[in-house]
Amino acid sequence: MSKLWGGRFTKETNKLVEELTASISFDQKLAHEDIEGSIAHVQMLGECNIISKEDADKIKQGLQKVKEKLENGELTYSVANEDIHMNIEKFLIDEIGPVGGKLHTGRSRNDQVATDMHLYLKNHTVEIISLVEAVQAAIIEQAEKNVDTIIPGYTHLQRAQPISFAHHLLAYFWMLERDKGRLLDSLERVNWLPLGAGALAGTTFPIDRERVAELLGFAHVYPNSMDAVSDRDFILEFLSTASILMMHISRLSEELVIWSSQEFQFVELDDSFCTGSSIMPQKKNPDVPELLRAKTGRVYGNLMGLLTVLKGLPLAYNKDMQEDKEGMFDTVETLEGSLQLLAPMIETMVVNVEKMRSAVNHDYSNATDIADYLVTKGLPFRDAHEVIGKTVLYAIEKKKFLLELSLEEYKQFHELFEDDIYEVLTPEHVVGARNSYGGTAPKQVKQQIILAKEALNNVKG
Ligand code: ARG
Repeated sequence: MSKLWGGRFTKETNKLVEELTASISFDQKLAHEDIEGSIAHVQMLGECNIISKEDADKIKQGLQKVKEKLENGELTYSVANEDIHMNIEKFLIDEIGPVGGKLHTGRSRNDQVATDMHLYLKNHTVEIISLVEAVQAAIIEQAEKNVDTIIPGYTHLQRAQPISFAHHLLAYFWMLERDKGRLLDSLERVNWLPLGAGALAGTTFPIDRERVAELLGFAHVYPNSMDAVSDRDFILEFLSTASILMMHISRLSEELVIWSSQEFQFVELDDSFCTGSSIMPQKKNPDVPELLRAKTGRVYGNLMGLLTVLKGLPLAYNKDMQEDKEGMFDTVETLEGSLQLLAPMIETMVVNVEKMRSAVNHDYSNATDIADYLVTKGLPFRDAHEVIGKTVLYAIEKKKFLLELSLEEYKQFHELFEDDIYEVLTPEHVVGARNSYGGTAPKQVKQQIILAKEALNNVKG
């Protein structure tokens, strides 16, 4: 089979070389974008009289036909045609004859592939943003039901202070909100059209790049042809943003694994998101959050992979750049898959309010509040901290929790203690007292939910 670039060659390509250099096994994922880009290009060629209107129409119809046939599975890609661009051009020529060869006028595969990648990432970034929003909506839904659910709050994974479970969940809402901001912002850089840059230096034909940008929905045209064909920042930026987003997904997943463990039993994940053990019939494993946690690794790997491919590349296009694709596809698919599972998993998880409550009743996480109590009565915080340290140590030795000490016992440590200490130490009071802006008091959390809903609706509107 003769190659589209075969003219200069006298020998057949070595089979292994063909396999090494071909990208069709993976870049066929760009078929849709490639055809879309070609249709806009040929439309412009016709409008600028670079080829006749008649030929342009024939090519457009041919491309439509190729698209249909691909969708119906009637065409088979060939490694000999190397990549998606040349496979589609071959299909086109098979479909409409030699006139199909006019499609590649005034362009190169270098600006073509860059255009395909921009189109692909633009569409998928928009899709990922809406999937992030679905997770945010699921978080808000659970948060609304759990404003008054009290759970231990941790630092160093040691009980620190009791908090509202809604407050804990909403922390993830804001992480995702920042991820969404980064994704939206990255669209600014994806929204540039490389096509018309040619191989690297522009083209001798009187093309209209603005027109192609308009047809494809790009806001800007790359002003430097060399930059246009060698820029992969837009992919790196996506991979960086994706890495941070995956890290957030992973942290939340880790919490789900911990919370659903026998030791915690704070939540129960729906059966449909868990799997069993082939040997231990009692087990219900949180495979989904475990895998989301693990898949973070491949996303980081894809970022490192592409950063490494690009460092040290001279301008302009180099074949190395073909290695930009698999990591990008893999990241898009990993993210989309993970987000699609996360939303319903959060929605359907059962919150074990009793277990959370009993955990809070059996710890010393209200100790800070005794200190604050003494401070309110006039003692300097440092002195109060010292008094409470001793009180807690005493309670631990007596195997009592702070609500179980008698007033006489309290008075041993400071005469400022009165009967009202018992009211101050209830978990409801401890949580409700943290009523500073952004704090965990139900009043603040309700306010936070209003803000979260506003943030969510803003982007959609
Ligand atoms: N398959 C190639 C890639 O993905 C397309 C560009 C090829 N350009 C070239 N000059 N060989 O990078």
